Amino acid sequence: MDRHSPIPRHVAVVMDGNGRWAKQRYMPRFFGHKAGVDALVRAVDLFAERGVEYLTVFAFSSENWKRPSDEVSGLMGLVLVAVSKYLRRLATDGVRIRIIGDRDAVTDKLRAAWEEAESSTVHNTRITLSVAFNYGGRWDVVQACRRAMADGLGPTELTEDVLSRYTALAFAPDPDLFIRTGGEMRISNFLLWQAAYSELFFTECLWPDFGATEVDAALATYARRERRFGGIPAREAAAAAR
Ligand code: FPP
Repeated sequence: MDRHSPIPRHVAVVMDGNGRWAKQRYMPRFFGHKAGVDALVRAVDLFAERGVEYLTVFAFSSENWKRPSDEVSGLMGLVLVAVSKYLRRLATDGVRIRIIGDRDAVTDKLRAAWEEAESSTVHNTRITLSVAFNYGGRWDVVQACRRAMADGLGPTELTEDVLSRYTALAFAPDPDLFIRTGGEMRISNFLLWQAAYSELFFTECLWPDFGATEVDAALATYARRERRFGGIPAREAAAAAR
């Protein structure tokens, strides 16, 4: 077994299944997204308790604008409600909040709520919650290249390390564990650059039901995985060196 820390430093999550969870209850999709916010606050605490330092979640993708307009405006409104309902609690629980994504397309009110969430938690160190909103992995690579070019970097200076520093998650290590709830097995344009060597964990559990059982199942699976980063297993490398 390749020895790596049994606890991932950074966990990324595609929180899928809110709509189906609501449908099972004969409720509108928005009801599922609302329950999804509660599940997110619960998940932050559970991961922090287990020693995870960074949690990054996909809240609204660049492609989610294609959803019906009432669902899109509902999700935008939900952010404002979530910030007013939970910001104080997250802040006192030691959570640092970061927002990643294209802020240009959101309203001034939403941008102000994000800024308040970030500035009022900037000194917290227990866990960093990064919320990907109006985010896409391809957008991230393109914006990173554009900013690097704007800084005058030439083709030979643009290495993987340098480009990483321009990506939206430059402040965090790459995710060790990538979780998707809701039964689909795809990445859906989330963290394409950063998840190159993430361990993937898919669960049928719908996001609003995500709790301690699923957190522990995902972490136990991660602890058993052998990480190679394109190399050979550590024990074989050690044997070859003898
Ligand atoms: C996917 O479920 C979920 C989303 C597109 C939104 C996720 C957002 C939240 C959990 C709320 C987060 C909000 C804040 C304030 C951080 P789906 O609608 O695709 O579900 P389905 O696959 O069952 O239809």
